[in-house]
Amino acid sequence: MAVKAYDLTGRTAFVTGAASGIGRASAVLLAEAGAAVHCADRDEQGLHETATLIKASGGTAHVHHLDVTDRAQLRQAVAACERLDVMAAVAGIMHSSPVLETRDEDLDRVLTVNFKGVLYACQEAARAMLAQQVRGSIVTMASGAVDTGGPGLLCYGAAKAAVVQLTKTLATEMGPHGIRVNAVAPGWIRTPMTDRHDVAAQTHTETFMARMSPLGRVGEAEDVAHAVLHLASDASSFTTGQILRPNGGVAMPW
Ligand SMILES: NC(=O)c1ccc[n+]([C@@H]2O[C@H](COP(=O)([O-])OP(=O)(O)OC[C@H]3O[C@@H](n4cnc5c(N)ncnc54)[C@H](O)[C@@H]3O)[C@@H](O)[C@H]2O)c1
Repeated sequence: MAVKAYDLTGRTAFVTGAASGIGRASAVLLAEAGAAVHCADRDEQGLHETATLIKASGGTAHVHHLDVTDRAQLRQAVAACERLDVMAAVAGIMHSSPVLETRDEDLDRVLTVNFKGVLYACQEAARAMLAQQVRGSIVTMASGAVDTGGPGLLCYGAAKAAVVQLTKTLATEMGPHGIRVNAVAPGWIRTPMTDRHDVAAQTHTETFMARMSPLGRVGEAEDVAHAVLHLASDASSFTTGQILRPNGGVAMPW
């Protein structure tokens, strides 16, 4: 590791959603930076593929087949880490429906996975870090949806806005213990999630989002993984309660 501040040697990271897309890329990059990585997901096959990728490049990976909406499963998995330096709460689902067609069950499902799943991971991580007196880093996964009022984004955007609120509130509560909490809010990233969305909705959002970006492209999972590594590492040691936006410049809040 050329830049010492990004070196995670001797540290342990826990990544939810590690079986696919951004979670997988983050788990692989954190391992490349030297961390032992605990990979958690409900997709068992994808989890093992991620662990194989990490081990193939000489890293250390453990797998936890779990559902992030089950607090007891998360608690057990976090307890299995002897030490916890980094929590990256990445697992999430996409949902799109116009406000007038949104059903209670859609809202409940998206809030449960995308908000409560992140909340449980944050709570378990913060408790473990406090007990171990580790000055750790918690990274949550919000979305560019918090910066726009895109059609269909009620459930998804509301859950991600709640993740932003959780991030800021927890950052203020954990700061005195040296624990940092930050969010990543990616723009359109090419992953199995966005591929499925464009096929299901018969849209070409990827093409549209690429045109919206001053850089003229959409993101790759690795673009977001680098943001996760930055927030996980000592390179961001004076950064907490912030939202980092790898979005190709699509939204520029001021
Ligand atoms: N791809 C994008 O454009 C984009 C943009 C902004 C934010 N995000 C967010 O990034 C995160 C990762 O998205 P992605 O694009 O990599 O999607 P993805 O579908 O490729 O990966 C999501 C992973 O989360 C896991 N998961 C979902 N629900 C789970 C549950 N209840 N318990 C355990 N695991 C569960 C899935 O099995 C999958 O492995 C999500 O939170 C998403 O909202 C993605």
